[in-house]
Amino acid sequence: MSKKKPEAGAGAARKSDGGDGDAGVQAPPPEQVYAAELDFLARWDDGPRPPSWKLTPRAAVTFIVGSEDVLRAGGTAVMINEKFVGERSLVERCVVTLAGERGLLLVGEPGTAKSMLSELLAAAISGDSSLAVQGTAGTSEEHFRYGWNYSLLIAKGPHPEALVPSPVLTAMRRGAVARVEEITRCLPEVQDALVSIMSDRRLAVPELGALEPARRGFNVIATANLRDKGVSEMSAALKRRFNFETVAPIADAVRETELVRRRATQIVGEAGAPLAVDDAVLEALVTVFRDLRLGRTVEGWPVERPSSVMSTAEAVAVASSMGLAATYFPGDRDVARLLPEYLLGVVMKDEPRDRGKLLAYWDASVKRRAEGDARLWKALHELRRVLE
Ligand SMILES: Nc1ncnc2c1ncn2[C@@H]1O[C@H](COP(=O)(O)OP(=O)(O)OP(=O)(O)O)[C@@H](O)[C@H]1O
Ligand SMILES: [Mg+2]
Repeated sequence: MSKKKPEAGAGAARKSDGGDGDAGVQAPPPEQVYAAELDFLARWDDGPRPPSWKLTPRAAVTFIVGSEDVLRAGGTAVMINEKFVGERSLVERCVVTLAGERGLLLVGEPGTAKSMLSELLAAAISGDSSLAVQGTAGTSEEHFRYGWNYSLLIAKGPHPEALVPSPVLTAMRRGAVARVEEITRCLPEVQDALVSIMSDRRLAVPELGALEPARRGFNVIATANLRDKGVSEMSAALKRRFNFETVAPIADAVRETELVRRRATQIVGEAGAPLAVDDAVLEALVTVFRDLRLGRTVEGWPVERPSSVMSTAEAVAVASSMGLAATYFPGDRDVARLLPEYLLGVVMKDEPRDRGKLLAYWDASVKRRAEGDARLWKALHELRRVLE
């Protein structure tokens, strides 16, 4: 789907670019950024929905992967822009899993948009992506269950008002989707707090002699990073409560370049400027990222992979930094000259000795391209000393 989509339904299309939320807020949630689209999609497809869902499964998938054509409902015509770049079938499977009230675990390399996909799913299904628990080594059972407001507890004793619900308990009460980020970073015994919630669909509060039942529609989307403590170490009981979906890096170079351009344009746009990095430079940037990620160039030449993750998210970060540099320091130097320095920063994140791998890539692949008649690759090759 590399074709450019025409913009229609101006209001919604403008929102889709993500820059139209509250100008003072850094990262408004998708239900806010895309409020107009969500509202439209709820009217567009009024077919049967799973209990508590704001959208039908079909409308939820359309929200995430975009519409091929202009959609019409009640006199409005709206083009839904693509947000997650990936297989439609993957998003469909995610939605079906959730409609069947089974947990969904998104696994994959860092920077493949697992968190973004989980937020988009929660926004589409429940209209709220904020019911989230961030998994860390310090996450405790309370984060999945409930805590207490101690001043109220001391003043009144155990009392429903003194109970502080976790985001998961709030989701159970509302019949909404709770998100658990980086679930494998939590200790196994803490992960197990979710097992009873997900199988019994209720939560016991012994202090109050109460049982909190989950309303229909309650569900959990978790994400796990393959570079962290492995999914294999996740408790077997918990694994059985989730359907696993692997989120892979973007397969198609053209779509990846388009996404990098779109996100960098948006980020630089927030600084009030157009993206001053031309298409050839963006293409070269994405090419280098993909070559190093895949261990093979587009031409089929072998490449030694650095241990750092050459993710799309990192490519977006480099493209935006180059764009911001061009905005704030215009005319200082050709923006393409910044590429090797930023690349080196990414490559050396995990292993400083990987500088050698980037140099080897420059001496083999970049050099061979420079020997052709590609001007940009010639210029990049001449910048080799920056990498030394
Ligand atoms: N397939 C994709 N579709 C859309 N955006 C993507 C895609 N892959 C990467 N991105 C970009 O990468 C950014 C980071 O994604 P996100 O934080 O959701 O990744 P993640 O997989 O959760 O990473 P981590 O494992 O580090 O938590 C997104 O905001 C988006 O700009
Ligand atoms: Mg994440």
